Amino acid sequence: MRLPGDFKHAVESVLKILALLLFVLLIGATPLAVAQTTEPIVETPQVAGSLIRAPGWELVHAHCSGCHSITLVTSQRGERPFWKELIRWMQRTQNLWQFEPATEETILNYLATNYGAGRPQRRAPLAADLLPVAR
Ligand code: HEC
Repeated sequence: MRLPGDFKHAVESVLKILALLLFVLLIGATPLAVAQTTEPIVETPQVAGSLIRAPGWELVHAHCSGCHSITLVTSQRGERPFWKELIRWMQRTQNLWQFEPATEETILNYLATNYGAGRPQRRAPLAADLLPVAR
């Protein structure tokens, strides 16, 4: 009688398929498990620089942080002509690309408004009562 042999063969085949399925599932699920435990990318000062969040900051970040630190930008102060001339200088001598007029307008407005000549370059000094007491 060959039935028990066939039956054993069938069970073995099913077990093999199940083992294969389990393997595939485990392998397939691993990246998912990793993706789920990985922290979402949050915007940190390191990612976005310390640009003042005002209209146009994303464009400035996109166009002005590729070649040098954005801190080089935020440590400067100047009115619109200063920023415009700086951009022209980088375009002439530093391979800065040309901007669409609307893009340049937004960038210049942002810089002149938020990093104008009158804006403080450092935080205000601490109030006297916040200073450490000399003992
Ligand atoms: C294609 C590269 C490039 C891009 C993009 C770029 N810059 Fe520059 N920038 C330079 C180089 C090179 C220097 C000189 C760096 C140095 O002296 O170490 C510089 C210097 C500067 C300085 C310092 C000037 C000084 O007097 O020392 C400022 C401020 C500045 N860039 C602002 C900007 C702004 C604003 C943007 C966006 C509109 C921008 N940069 C985009 C290349 C670039």
